[in-house]
Parts: sequence; structure tokens; C-alpha cells
Amino acid sequence: MKNFLITGGAGFIGSNFVVSLLNKYLDYHVVVYDKLTYAGNLENLLQVTDNPRYTFVKGDICDATLVSETVQKHQIDTIVNFAAETHVDRSIMDADAFMNTNVQGTYVLLETARKLGLERFHQISTDEVYGDVPEGIASLESDPVAPRSPYAASKASGDLMTLAFYTTYQLPVTITRGANNIGPYQYPEKVVPLFATNAIDNIPLPVYGDGRQKRDYQYVLDHCRAVDRVLHQGKIGEIYNIGTGHEMENMTMVRIILDTLGKPESLIRHVEDRPGHDRRYSLNVEKIQDLGWEPKHSLAQAIELTAQWYRDNEWWWRKIKEGDFQTYYEAQYGDRLRAAQ
Ligand code: NAD
Ligand code: TYD
Repeated sequence: MKNFLITGGAGFIGSNFVVSLLNKYLDYHVVVYDKLTYAGNLENLLQVTDNPRYTFVKGDICDATLVSETVQKHQIDTIVNFAAETHVDRSIMDADAFMNTNVQGTYVLLETARKLGLERFHQISTDEVYGDVPEGIASLESDPVAPRSPYAASKASGDLMTLAFYTTYQLPVTITRGANNIGPYQYPEKVVPLFATNAIDNIPLPVYGDGRQKRDYQYVLDHCRAVDRVLHQGKIGEIYNIGTGHEMENMTMVRIILDTLGKPESLIRHVEDRPGHDRRYSLNVEKIQDLGWEPKHSLAQAIELTAQWYRDNEWWWRKIKEGDFQTYYEAQYGDRLRAAQ
């Protein structure tokens, strides 16, 4: 394991992972393979742009020819698949790209790994594949998948195909299912960066429904360390949940953001809920803890650090929010916010 193809490496978690991997393992080479969709951003990788062990290839994971050529040219032995369409609200508006990238794209990568006999294929998945989790229960890796949004269904499909390649062809696969990540370089459509940047600009924070939904907001670098742990110590063919194992209501998360930024609660707007909104996710994380991993940040610390990063890095997010984002924002929130006045 030395030559990595990191798909989706220009996105939020992928870029954080690439930087950590290159800093930690001085003999590893990383090729970031990324389509640069609206969510991909080479500015996330500025810290490694000049690193001789880093290469960038612009490409789509659905393009079997380019994937295969890239793997062969760079003598890739390990694929870590972060590439995905990732936002639930966009999947509700239009699921086409989710089906292409998250289902077909994952299949293309698996088939390439199989044909070229790679050492490892690692699939980055999500707690959302377990669906809505009732109070008192924490999802185990052995639980059946029960996705409820088009995004979650597409990710569950990717997981199932990954497991099928292990069972059928003995492809050496591992899967991690992470809870909500937050931290530097997250595209400001996701709730924590959206709310932090709105608060900085003194504009309303659109809370879906009563805001009492529960999520495990983990710090992105904790998640990246856990993926690293699974790559190096995980058992082939296994799934590992990754999260703090604690959840928080969205209203609590909102208040921590506002407190951190010194902004008033009058910015909160309760708006029409997301259709099919999963009320709660909760992961049992004993299996990853058994590999010796622990998160270094609590949920509250992760939220504070994230809000502070957005306060201190307007150079990164302001131009994103001024571009095509405005069209998305109006489609997603325009009527909701007007109705909530
Ligand atoms: P992101 O949206 O920030 O980045 C996704 C990246 O994938 C972008 O750089 C984009 O350009 C690239 N991409 C999209 N389609 C592609 C294609 N067809 N070919 C090549 N590249 C393509 O996503 P993220 O939040 O960093 O999530 C990364 C992975 O982690 C995803 O698989 C996601 O499902 C999973 N995940 C995310 C979270 C979270 O809270 N963000 C939690 C658990 C799991
Ligand atoms: P999100 O960041 O979209 O992640 P996911 O839905 O994949 O967990 O949303 C996190 C939580 O925040 C979820 O319960 C939905 C809620 N939310 C809002 O209340 N308002 C918003 O504008 C967004 C984007 C999310």
C-alpha cells in the first residue's frame, strides 16, 4: 500500500484525508482523481500542490477508460473512493447525478480494481444507509441497510456492490460508514458551514421543522484518522462505523454556532421540513474503537472549531457563496424563508 488513487480528493473530506496521508507517510504517493463538480475545489489542496508525491488528474469515476489508464500509469495499488454526490437536499431535487456517480461510478472503480488486481479498494460510506434510527438504538455494522433518501439509497447501493465484489471475486475491500463530518473546506450547502456563514453575514439560519433531529457531528480529521486506521489495520471484507457515538439535536448545534460567533438567536428561522427527513442517526462505534481509534474532539468542540474556521477563512467561502450557489439557495430556501417571515 503505497500508491493511492484518492477519488473525490478535491472535495471536503477527501482533501483533508489527502493532506493528512501525505504528511504522515513520507513514502506514499497520492493521485487525486476528481471531476471537479460544484463541490470539488483545488483550493482545498493548496497545502500539497507543490508536493512531488502528489498528482492531480481531472476525471469522472464513470469514465472506465480514464480510470484504468490512470491506475496503470501511476502504478496504483489502493483506491480510496470519496467521490460522490453528497447533499441530501440536492438528491431530493434531482437524483440523476447521484445514480451515475454513487452507483455506476462505484461499480466502474470496483471493476477496475478487480481487473487490475489491486491490493485494496476502500469505499467511503455514510451512517445514512441505516436510515432513521429509533431512540435507544445504535446502528451496528451487521444491521440491514434501510436508506430513505435518494442520496442514502445511492450510497447503500455502492456499499452492496462493494460487498458483492468481495464475496464473488474476493476483491480485498473495506468500507467505512461515517457520521456527519464538519471542519475546514466543507461546501457551505451542508448545515454547519451554511449556518456559520449565514450567521457571519447576519442572515437567517433556516432550521428544518422543529430542529430536534439528532446527528453525530464529528470533526473531519478524526474521521480521516479512522479511515487511515481501517486501511492499515482493518479486516478485509469488513464494514466499520465511524463517529463519536454521541448525538446532538440540531437546535443545540445552532446555538453553539451562534454563541461561538457572538450572534443573536433572532437569526433562527424554522422553515418547512425536508421531505422524508431522517429524525435520528446513531452509530455503535465499538468495532472501530477495538482497532485502537478514539475521536479527539467532542461534538461541541468540532462545531466551535468549524465556526471559527469559517469566521477566519472568508477568502475560501465568500466567492463560493456568491456564485451558482445563489441559484441553489433560492431554489432550496427562497419559498421556505418567505413563508417563515
Ligand atoms: P464533497 O461533496 O465535498 O466532495 C465530493 C467530491 O467528489 C468533489 O470533489 C467532487 O468534485 C467529486 N466528484 C463528484 N462526482 C464525481 C465523479 N463522477 N467523478 C470524480 N469525482 C467526482 O463530499 P464530502 O462531504 O467530502 O464526502 C466525501 C465522501 O464521504 C462521500 O462519499 C460521502 O458520501 C461520504 N460521507 C460524507 C459525510 C459528510 O458529512 N460530508 C459523512 C459520511 C460519509
Ligand atoms: P446536512 O448537513 O444536510 O446533513 P445530513 O442531512 O446528510 O445529515 O443536514 C444536517 C442536519 O441539519 C439534518 O438534520 C438536516 C438539518 N438541516 C437544517 O435544519 N437546515 C438546513 O438548511 C440544512 C442544510 C440541514
